[in-house]
Amino acid sequence: MVLHLILLGLLVVTDGVRAIGQSTCVAFKSSSSTFSIVSNGKAAPVLLSADEWPGVQRAATDFASDIQQVTGLKPTLSNVTSSLTSGPSTAIIVGTLGKSSLINEVVNRTKLDVSSIQGQWEAFMATEVSNPLPGVKSAYVIIGADKRGTIFALYDHSEQFGVSPWYWWADVPTTKSSELFVTSSGCSHGSPTVQYRAIFLNDEQPALQNWAMEKFTNGTGAALTGSPFNHFFYTKLFELMLRIKANYLWPAMWSSAFGIDDAQNQALADWWGIVMGTSHEEPIMRSTPVEWDLFGSGPWDYGVNAQNIYNFWVVGANRSKTLRIFSQSACEVQAIIVSDQRQLLTDVLNVSDITTVTQVWTLYKEVEGYYEDGMTVPDDVILLWTDDNYGNVRRYPLVSERNRTGGSGVYYHVDYTYEQMSAAVARDAVRIWVLNVGDLKPYELHTEFFITYGWDASLWNRNNLDTFVSSWAQREFDISIQDATEVADIIANVTRWNARRKPELLNSTTYSLTNYREAENALAGWESLPAFFQLVHHPVQASYTLANIANDYATQVMNLFQQDYDLEVDYHTLLNGKWDHMMDQTHVMYYYWQQPMANTMPFITMVQPKKQALPGAMRIAIEGSLALGSPGDNMYDCEQGYSCPNPSVSIDPFVPAGNRFFDVGAGGPTPFTFTATSNASWLKLSPAKGSISPSSLEQRVFASVDWSQVTGVESAVLTFAANVQDQPPMSQDINFVANHTLIPSGFKGFVEGDGTVSIEAAHAARNTSVDGLTWVELPGIGRTLSGITPWPRGGDDRNFTAGSGPSIEYDFYTFNTQNQTGNITVTTYVSPSLNGLGDDRPLAIAIQIDSGALQANYFVPPASGGNLPPQWDGNDGWAANSIISVPMVFTASSGAHTLKLFMIEPSVVVQKIVIDTGGVLPSYLGPPESIYMS
Ligand SMILES: *[C@@H]1O[C@H](CO)[C@@H](O)[C@H](O)[C@H]1NC(C)=O
Ligand SMILES: *[C@@H]1O[C@H](CO)[C@@H](O)[C@H](O)[C@H]1NC(C)=O
Ligand SMILES: *[C@@H]1O[C@H](CO)[C@@H](O)[C@H](O)[C@H]1NC(C)=O
Ligand SMILES: *[C@@H]1O[C@H](CO)[C@@H](O)[C@H](O)[C@H]1NC(C)=O
Ligand SMILES: *[C@@H]1O[C@H](CO)[C@@H](O)[C@H](O)[C@H]1NC(C)=O
Ligand SMILES: *[C@@H]1O[C@H](CO)[C@@H](O)[C@H](O)[C@H]1NC(C)=O
Repeated sequence: MVLHLILLGLLVVTDGVRAIGQSTCVAFKSSSSTFSIVSNGKAAPVLLSADEWPGVQRAATDFASDIQQVTGLKPTLSNVTSSLTSGPSTAIIVGTLGKSSLINEVVNRTKLDVSSIQGQWEAFMATEVSNPLPGVKSAYVIIGADKRGTIFALYDHSEQFGVSPWYWWADVPTTKSSELFVTSSGCSHGSPTVQYRAIFLNDEQPALQNWAMEKFTNGTGAALTGSPFNHFFYTKLFELMLRIKANYLWPAMWSSAFGIDDAQNQALADWWGIVMGTSHEEPIMRSTPVEWDLFGSGPWDYGVNAQNIYNFWVVGANRSKTLRIFSQSACEVQAIIVSDQRQLLTDVLNVSDITTVTQVWTLYKEVEGYYEDGMTVPDDVILLWTDDNYGNVRRYPLVSERNRTGGSGVYYHVDYTYEQMSAAVARDAVRIWVLNVGDLKPYELHTEFFITYGWDASLWNRNNLDTFVSSWAQREFDISIQDATEVADIIANVTRWNARRKPELLNSTTYSLTNYREAENALAGWESLPAFFQLVHHPVQASYTLANIANDYATQVMNLFQQDYDLEVDYHTLLNGKWDHMMDQTHVMYYYWQQPMANTMPFITMVQPKKQALPGAMRIAIEGSLALGSPGDNMYDCEQGYSCPNPSVSIDPFVPAGNRFFDVGAGGPTPFTFTATSNASWLKLSPAKGSISPSSLEQRVFASVDWSQVTGVESAVLTFAANVQDQPPMSQDINFVANHTLIPSGFKGFVEGDGTVSIEAAHAARNTSVDGLTWVELPGIGRTLSGITPWPRGGDDRNFTAGSGPSIEYDFYTFNTQNQTGNITVTTYVSPSLNGLGDDRPLAIAIQIDSGALQANYFVPPASGGNLPPQWDGNDGWAANSIISVPMVFTASSGAHTLKLFMIEPSVVVQKIVIDTGGVLPSYLGPPESIYMS
């Protein structure tokens, strides 16, 4: 995503944002309260201690190079001891508390208060001190509470200096400044929200793997596995991770084995400061099946082959003695496996207390089932809850599970990050977060948000989330806040459009071609993106290409299919091919879970343009009609399918579009001119005439009504008359019915139009809190506008009986009921979400119309054994559609009404409410919002 952006970003230079979500301690001009890093052509030297962690020594060399990138001057780096006699007059002193003898000395001499970070995981502080060492008058000390605390402190400063964490991975240029200062009071940060913040490289074939093979090997992969993921690759990745403040890695595992692909991998991870783990399918740090296939013997079944598997795991434990989190396996013979694995770790790691070894169990699919069925997990083991592969966390720790000494975490796929992870924070699932990042590119923004949010969740809330995106755009592209806000807006739009349905699941019938102008509005959205949108060129263009499948213009489809390939080539040839192969993934026309083996163009239909259609040269396509055109017979025009009466169109004043349209098109190669007229003065046609020829294939005519001239229901006849070159004239009549519905004056609320009342959930009239819980808006989420959810997030784990919870109200006015039965159907559109507090707390809402009977709907059925509810999967499943529709039938005669929606369970996100009074038509996103009278 980033690549195209920076190319344009170079055009603009401003004092943009250089860091996101940190307290700022960097300045580019001096003042009385700054310390000079570089000024007057002089760089303050960086002092370390020889007994510092090697990983900190290494990060300090990056720190010095980063300063050089920004200022052109490289500070000297040296190890000094406390017996330094004549130091430089100013210096930057870097070190880890309790490790660096230099820092101990400085703290002792200056009486610096380090209690705020002492013993705090990954915490750091930085500040200016006087006389820290003999001869040194003043120094800026950067102190980490532990190894990564110091490393993160250094990179935190680098980012603020102007070096993006992605400078290499996304080719982000460094903003130059000849002078560089820090504030005397410095930066500091306590322990992160989430202790282990991980990424998982997964499904890394073909893109990441082919790219790495080309860039990091000489054409052949590792001896035993063929994997290209050697230490050249991983050290690039480790650096990125530390720069964004990630600390934990699940390595590539598709056809790779971290421990044997390159003997240096494991040692380097420790050295750099990255905690290693393996995915849930690879117990005790051995890649499975890759390593098992190479070295194991017998079946992979602990029930029958325990000794061989045990010996196999001993090797994994032995080579991973430092900085690791052991994934454990769980299966039907789990009790034995677990005790064996714990004994093995105790023996191999030579510990007296197994609870001092960090172990994790991933509750993935059936394993979650065993757990729900009562499998006991030792209290010190971290429980990793998982999502459904689409970004919906299946379950969060219950209140009774939150005091486990091991704690818990979440394994997640790139998706609705804030909504789901804020619930994870509220429910204390903060020991480990793992993000499956696929091939890593092009998910730069999402990956960084996930890690940044885990680093300090307190900085982000539902109202400032968009500032993450705009700050990110400012930092990455060095653009003004206005431009960054526009980029953020674009990214928000694209994210929303892609979230409605994954581009690879779009097809020609997803968006309705006939109802609510849905397909063309979806398309117009993509088209409206400014040229500036080159910025986020690849994801946008790539998605637009597929969105266009909704359009039946065959040549466009063919051209876009070609463009899709050209975009891939563009990406691969940028910067002399630095990112060759990164977009190798096939992505068009998925038929089942496996990627297609080739990109295939969707089916298209073509009409013979050289031969005239039987009814003549002019064809009229009526909005909302399935018929391909009039005049002429058509199976959709009437029941018998021939000699049908003239087509009929109706409208009322509360149809959101405000008009109807007719597309006048060519029925063959012969040009013609046409007029559109009516026999009623209240019917307005625009344009009222036009001409059609091979160079102007279609003309849209809008029909609207002057309501001041219409009382009750009135009909008019609309006539399209054509003068055809060298042919007799032809015409088509259409009945046009206008129904002037009226609301009482003073009514405030949504009004039925087209037999529908459609309401965005955020547009409520009243909102009632109960015990501090309130429905609030989550801006940006959802398919059309936003969502509402009970707040605080997690709802304090409370639930309510129907009718007693916090409520939110909507006023609306109806003229009809379904088939005059006196009934209306209220369909609530809810974000897909699972029963996160267990199946005995199923997600639910309750609705009441006026003072009528309250109805509760528990819409997510129980799914035992780690399964998903039956409605979840599949092409039309809740996950693919990104929505759960919850219909309820009420009795409500025509007139003014109030709909009251009650919370029952927390974490339900309601997007939209659609009331069918008889006119709702099939569509993907539901009818557009109704007209609101205020
Ligand atoms: C500081 O000492 C460490 C450990 O001996 C060494 O690896 C590192 O290269 C030294 N740094 C400098 C700048 O001399
Ligand atoms: C601090 O300095 C004093 C002497 O000035 C010394 O006795 C003490 O051991 C030092 N403490 C540390 C932690 O170095
Ligand atoms: C590839 O060859 C170059 C030049 O001989 C060498 O420097 C580099 O280390 C090799 N890379 C690998 C991964 O073997
Ligand atoms: C955790 O809390 C639950 C009650 O919420 C209690 O039943 C359980 O014994 C507690 N476990 C520990 C290890 O304290
Ligand atoms: C985002 O979409 C909205 C609604 O479709 C539109 O009004 C807005 O202009 C779009 N923003 C950009 C930057 O394209
Ligand atoms: C196209 O997508 C829709 C959902 O939008 C789905 O109902 C339909 O089955 C899909 N058609 C095909 C041929 O996959």
